[in-house]
Amino acid sequence: MTVQIDHALEEIRRFRPSPEFAAQAIADERLYDAASADRLGFWADQARDLLTWQKPFTEVLDWSNPPFARWFADGELNVAVNCLDRHVEAGLGDRVAIYWEGEPGDSRAITYAELTEEVKRAANALTDLGIRTGDRVAIYLPMIPEAVVSMLAVARIGAIHSVVFGGFSADSLASRIDDAEASLVITADGGYRKGRVFPLKPVVDEALAKAEGGTVKNVLVVKRGENDIAWNEGRDLWWHDTVTTASPEHEAQAFDAENPLFILYTSGTTGKPKGILHTSGGYLTQVAFTHKNVFDLHPERDVYWCTADVGWITGHSYVVYGPLANGATQVLYEGTPDTPHPGRWWELVEKYGVTILYTAPTAIRSFMKLGRSVVHNFNLRSLRLLGSVGEPINPEAWIWYRHVIGGGSIPVVDTWWQTETGAIMISALPGITDLKPGSAQVPVPGISVDILADDGTPVEGEDGGLLVITEPWPSMLRGIWGDPERFRETYWEKFGDKYFAGDGARRDEDGDIWLLGRVDDVMNVSGHRLSTAEIESSLVAHEITAEAAVVGASDETTGQAVVAFVILKERHAHDLDPSDASEELRRHVAMQIGAIARPRQVFIVNELPKTRSGKIMRRLLRDLAEGRQVGDTTTLADTAIMDIISAQVR
Ligand code: PRX
Repeated sequence: MTVQIDHALEEIRRFRPSPEFAAQAIADERLYDAASADRLGFWADQARDLLTWQKPFTEVLDWSNPPFARWFADGELNVAVNCLDRHVEAGLGDRVAIYWEGEPGDSRAITYAELTEEVKRAANALTDLGIRTGDRVAIYLPMIPEAVVSMLAVARIGAIHSVVFGGFSADSLASRIDDAEASLVITADGGYRKGRVFPLKPVVDEALAKAEGGTVKNVLVVKRGENDIAWNEGRDLWWHDTVTTASPEHEAQAFDAENPLFILYTSGTTGKPKGILHTSGGYLTQVAFTHKNVFDLHPERDVYWCTADVGWITGHSYVVYGPLANGATQVLYEGTPDTPHPGRWWELVEKYGVTILYTAPTAIRSFMKLGRSVVHNFNLRSLRLLGSVGEPINPEAWIWYRHVIGGGSIPVVDTWWQTETGAIMISALPGITDLKPGSAQVPVPGISVDILADDGTPVEGEDGGLLVITEPWPSMLRGIWGDPERFRETYWEKFGDKYFAGDGARRDEDGDIWLLGRVDDVMNVSGHRLSTAEIESSLVAHEITAEAAVVGASDETTGQAVVAFVILKERHAHDLDPSDASEELRRHVAMQIGAIARPRQVFIVNELPKTRSGKIMRRLLRDLAEGRQVGDTTTLADTAIMDIISAQVR
């Protein structure tokens, strides 16, 4: 069939679940009934059914001190035991937990018994290195099994991990290490990406030279890339000398449900990334619940694959904690989708018989561009459910995903959530919901959302408004590391006890929710959050820059792209060629923050559009960057400025 091009607002297709899918579906209409009859009782039931508690809880939610929620607070559990030991004790030790595939083609199948043993060794090694409950451990690793092992070992001893995506720069790593006051960094010599080894340990060395806190005592290094690295005797330790030789016996202690589990940094509206804090019992409850019901997980027969890196929240919740808590078998892939050939992902789906695939719209759109011939060389008939996350999925990409990847009849679930929400909040439930391409659809059972106008009044019908979450939820962030005031200000100041998500949304006549993108200065590039302020301050930090403004311009493949407008300092404006200056600044941002932040374009201009009070009007720059007619300029201090800038940009 031909896939027609269409647009979200005209989208009217609906897809009923097939009777075969519905007949075997895990999710049940009664979940919605139970949650609306007794929301807290519903979550308590999920926490008891899905997890194993060493000490059962008696309280469900303590919201006596908003916005600081406590869930299941008098209960005790060990997160790693829930992801590992209990499956082994239930006789599932031989089940494969991870089919790992390295980019060069090396592979390992790791059973639950083996993963448990490795995590126990790592837990002992961390304890021997002096890591205690509540200490912070930074993890800067490629997508290798040791990344999962490290996270679970930290969790097992009640410490707190802070995973930093391997694509982030030394500066970004240093500021995260300092903010969390990490005492240990776990890294690798290097990892594989696009057919080459990219160095990690050298970046850690550079970061530790820059980190001002001096909190890091040891660096634990996995041998992966075999690249040359410097060695700091006394500080640096090889994984194979430290973890592999540690005892495989480890008795796990139970921790409070509110024991911190991890910090994950994400971009906000100011230059400084926020350390989003998640805790144990509530987080694990909601990731396990959503992983099971949204992905229709049948752990005894499914092979699940979430393509996210563990450096992002999707990797935390739907590579590590959700799937392992549910005893799933999953694929973990180290490399890029196009190495050594553009069909690599589809080759892996065929090789492992993947049944559930969870990925981002940007990936789907890049495969659409390549065309279906890349896909058709492989047998994808094992797939029975597809998921999408990270940004709105346009209906044409949704339809292509369902038809070309999914063979035309399997469910596609579009899942809306955030680093802060910890787990999926809005999504269809496969087998129950009639699917609607382009809409994330309905809150999952037990979650209450609304759409409000700026003044807090509910917005009815098709008019868009601001998405809020009206009731606390188990996997909600518990705060911003070290900054309770910023936590209050960012999410709670606007609507009191309702959580302000930062996304625009509208509800259609069926009550389905459509996400409309961020309403703040946060950009979404390939499903990754970037802050305009952070990139602007990086640009301004370069000696040639006088002033900079950054906007997120819509981009066919990546959703949004970073576009910068820069005024050079007087003395450089004359002696630098604009295209050299622009190239230099692109390189500089990639080096300072990470390659994902590299601007698609840097325009060197003489002026920036400002209001009379001196505020940069990014809306007008976005018009320019997207090649549109420039909008209303009447509030500019100098209305002629946009003509000058437009001429320079062209
Ligand atoms: O704008 C929304 C968008 O991604 C933001 C959250 O980004 P991050 O914390 O990096 O987490 C991404 C993975 C969960 C949201 O505020 N977003 C995420 N999923 C969707 C989405 N926008 C529309 N539809 C989605 N399914």
